[in-house]
Amino acid sequence: MSALSSYLSDPFLKELYLQIRSAGSLRSISLDLTHECNLRCTGCYYFEEGMDLIVGNNSNLDKDFIELVNSEKKRGTNFVTVVGGEPSLRLDRLKIIYDNFNMNVATNGLEKIPLEGFENMPIGVSVWGDHKTDAKLRNNGKRDLFKIALDNYKNDSRAFFYYTVTPNKSNEIESVVKQCINNGNKILFNYYSDLRDGWETHHQSFENVQFEIDRMISLYPDYILTTSYFNKVITTGTLFKQQWGYDVCTNVSTDFSGNSNRLENGNPFNPHFQSFNADFKTTRRCCTGIDRSCDSCFDAWEHFSWIMINMKLHLNTKNDFINWLSTMYIFYYINGLVGKNKDENIISRLHNLFNNQKNTNK
Ligand SMILES: C[S@@+](CC[C@H](N)C(=O)[O-])C[C@H]1O[C@@H](n2cnc3c(N)ncnc32)[C@H](O)[C@@H]1O
Repeated sequence: MSALSSYLSDPFLKELYLQIRSAGSLRSISLDLTHECNLRCTGCYYFEEGMDLIVGNNSNLDKDFIELVNSEKKRGTNFVTVVGGEPSLRLDRLKIIYDNFNMNVATNGLEKIPLEGFENMPIGVSVWGDHKTDAKLRNNGKRDLFKIALDNYKNDSRAFFYYTVTPNKSNEIESVVKQCINNGNKILFNYYSDLRDGWETHHQSFENVQFEIDRMISLYPDYILTTSYFNKVITTGTLFKQQWGYDVCTNVSTDFSGNSNRLENGNPFNPHFQSFNADFKTTRRCCTGIDRSCDSCFDAWEHFSWIMINMKLHLNTKNDFINWLSTMYIFYYINGLVGKNKDENIISRLHNLFNNQKNTNK
């Protein structure tokens, strides 16, 4: 019996695995829906490297957009992560993506994505801290963005808060989490990439962040869309013997010539992945970078991919497999690809898998 079949003799693991397999493998891309944005968040990776400037004076953007949609459909793309720029400023384009692909969109939450026409769209609503911190970092303190987003997405089952935790603000995590839960929304954590001040100070502080997120998982297991394993991998930058960095990142555009050495270094990568610029013609190194050092990247999506693509590394023990499977499942769940049997307790059951292994390892 192979290791995989022996792990799958556990009925719950088998159920999770079969749901993922029947959803099928992802042929994913990342797409900047527009270069325009109604905010300038401090250290936003998009504007720090001038990714908006790539568009230039192109006056054929709408036509180029449709051409890209058609060519990606032909290429077999079945999943699009929509970013930018601010996608809610271009509902016409967003609707076309929604109607043609499985997808997920990140929005700053200022303009509500309407229900009509976007009924089951997975929406990650950004927040960077409690009201004061969030307003300061994303809007120079001018408006209470978190409140606006809470009001826009109250009890909206499409929306989860995509909470980018900033350096040294782990003390705010519980308050933010409670407000999201009281608003009827789940929470996925992201980790701030400090592109302004150097990454070391911020890297040191992730120990507290990791601890606090684990505490949220044990206090509010039904609502937290981050697994403990994922939290550990991203905050420590370690996946078995691999150390996080460009050489191991799996979400690099495969047709981008600057990535050819990476693609030939023997480490796994997502063979379908492209990160498309808002000109709808060119790709760049990866979604969150052009030239920046990958040491400063703590992006949730890139780290999800790192774990998910490296299934083989997780087959040596049942605990490793559980770590992989629960993280994979939660990614599919966030994106509406599994969980359609509406098991209300599925997220806490996933977290329990991790707790059980901690107990059996004692
Ligand atoms: C560039 S934004 C585009 C989408 C949209 N305008 C928004 O604010 O969600 C995509 C995601 O990247 C996150 N982000 C931007 N800069 C970041 C950074 N330096 N570190 C971590 N996350 C960052 C944002 O919070 C958002 O969730």
